[in-house]
Amino acid sequence: MSSLTLFALCGSLRQQSINKACLLALQQLCSGYIDIVIDEDIGLLPLFNPDNEQHENKALARMKQQLAAADGLIIASPEYAHGISGVLKNALDWLVSGPEFVDKPVMLINTSARAHHAQAALREVVTTMSGAIIDEACVTVALLSKNPTADDILQMTSVTDTLLLGLAAFSRAIRTDQEITAEHAN
Ligand SMILES: Cc1cc2nc3c(=O)[nH]c(=O)nc-3n(C[C@H](O)[C@H](O)[C@H](O)COP(=O)(O)O)c2cc1C
Repeated sequence: MSSLTLFALCGSLRQQSINKACLLALQQLCSGYIDIVIDEDIGLLPLFNPDNEQHENKALARMKQQLAAADGLIIASPEYAHGISGVLKNALDWLVSGPEFVDKPVMLINTSARAHHAQAALREVVTTMSGAIIDEACVTVALLSKNPTADDILQMTSVTDTLLLGLAAFSRAIRTDQEITAEHAN
């Protein structure tokens, strides 16, 4: 069975981003079993303007290509003023009209237990874009006050256990979906 490839979007541009650290830790935790490709382009996207949707943009083209090639999408993003980060919403707006997002299995990682407004809003946006949120894969890990690096997170057993449980549920859901789709195609 080929290994899964997952694409990951981080909604923070901060150098010391906890959300980015969490994605990097997860990438290391599952290395050899699941490939997690972490996006590097989100900060390079221009502000969304529907007038420019047909214009060539390298960062957007790469993001779309990586999303299309992935079996699933992981999103880890902070809450700002009880909302989704502008950086993430901008990227999602660029992806709204393309086919890459439709029916893509989605895992949400919330690194702050109190950030429920943004998670609820993100669920609404992803669902509206026809992404398939896998509920049992969505996890919250309380990292906010700890300001950890990826290496710090790798030492936090309760956090790594939660992340891996979510990832296992995510990969099971993706595999099942792929098997059902393949069976219907035969
Ligand atoms: C401008 C601003 C607004 C914020 N608003 C909220 C908020 O409404 N709710 C919350 O839980 N955290 C809020 N935070 C805290 C961030 O979510 C937190 O610092 C988070 O770690 C940022 O993510 P990052 O570490 O990946 O950059 C806010 C932070 C900033 C800078």
